[in-house]
Amino acid sequence: MSIGIERLAVYTPQYGLALADLAAARGVAPAKYTQGLGVQEMAVAPPWEDVVTMAATAGARVLRAAGVDPASIGMLLVATETAVDHAKPVSIFVHDLLGVGPHCRTYELKHACYAGTAALMTAADWVRAGGARPRRALVIATDIARYELGSSGEPTQGAGAVAMLVGREPQALILGDESGTYAGNVHDFWRPLGRREAIVDGQHSVDCYLIALAGAFQMYRALERPPFEPDEAFQDRVARMLYHTPFPKMAMKAHRRFAELDWRASHARWAQVEPRLEEAAAQSYVELAAPALTAVSRIGNTYTASLYVCLASLLEAESRMLTGRRVGLFSYGSGSCAEFFSGVVPTSAPRVSDTGIATQLRERTLVDVPTYERLARTGDAGGEPAAGFAGEFVFHGVRNDRREYGRVEPVAARASA
Ligand code: CAA
Repeated sequence: MSIGIERLAVYTPQYGLALADLAAARGVAPAKYTQGLGVQEMAVAPPWEDVVTMAATAGARVLRAAGVDPASIGMLLVATETAVDHAKPVSIFVHDLLGVGPHCRTYELKHACYAGTAALMTAADWVRAGGARPRRALVIATDIARYELGSSGEPTQGAGAVAMLVGREPQALILGDESGTYAGNVHDFWRPLGRREAIVDGQHSVDCYLIALAGAFQMYRALERPPFEPDEAFQDRVARMLYHTPFPKMAMKAHRRFAELDWRASHARWAQVEPRLEEAAAQSYVELAAPALTAVSRIGNTYTASLYVCLASLLEAESRMLTGRRVGLFSYGSGSCAEFFSGVVPTSAPRVSDTGIATQLRERTLVDVPTYERLARTGDAGGEPAAGFAGEFVFHGVRNDRREYGRVEPVAARASA
């Protein structure tokens, strides 16, 4: 029985900031951000949007595109590390805004950037378990990556949500049965209660990511069936590799580590590759990993959603070419937990490949640095949306300690009114 992602929809806010402009304002060489980190632009969330409104917009769009009745959703999982309350989950606001029925298991998941994958795996297991009622889950990963203005993390911010329908008719990605996992208690990135911006030990976080990648991949590789031929590598069995991408250079570092581990595990292959390792790794990166990085290089870090922004971007660009082929996926969440898994792109993928990313990036507005700083400092205030608002739900603000949300007309309906 095939289980996996039936359809995806992505939402990213209406504003973006060019990293060359940020570099100029911070007195940094633009190439450090655009080449050294690989980020061209990052999404900027205005005060009338938060993780709830972004999740609800992505969720509404995926349900509409798939023609799925919200009341038929039996499980709604929302993953975020930008929670809006210490007790009340983001998922119940989203449940209300989407009109999901009362007979639904719903909760929020947190484990830094890993929570989106935790939600996907939980939903897939729930669907797999079966039962009298047909099982279809809605999984949404939603985040706003925020660091202190002027800090080294600042160029790795971003915002967005990815909604995924998980069920037995996977038209976007059929999930494989095995996965490799790795967990360990590290202080690489965290956000103490009461703080809006994350604290990060930057270089340590890169090292922790790579250690977790090695641990998860080596477990996964050992579970792979059929066993490898003496000169065969895992890379030969996948058409693309997708990584959690806080910034594109991180995916490049990850792929370099993965490729070497993979080749070293195959002794005959390692003997061939070792003399020209850097050249072979660079070629492998261009072929397998770079194609999925188009959107993240313009959206920035979306924490829990990042890996699935890569998947959506890849499906929009290459679903026709990838049908029937396998992709590898690596999810990392600071703190830390990581998972390496794979999926097959079904022949139906081109029919569901419009996830909304290319359109939203084409239509969004780039703001200048003073505007970005004003939006960042305004914080979690709520408000009324400015002209050109791309979302369908608005965060009005907090009254009597309660967050208030509302709906606006979808863009298409507004345009035709
Ligand atoms: N031209 C071209 N490249 C340049 C350059 C220039 N003028 N100046 C510097 N560079 C290069 C550097 O050589 C470096 O490249 P390499 O890593 O390949 O050597 C790159 O630009 C970045 O330079 P630095 O390492 O000096 O940058 P930094 O220390 O100021 O900040 C960072 C980098 C630590 C990643 C920081 O942006 C940060 O803390 N980000 C947030 C944490 C993060 O994203 N960690 C990733 C792993 S954890 C995770 O994945 C979870 C998550 O989502 C947070």
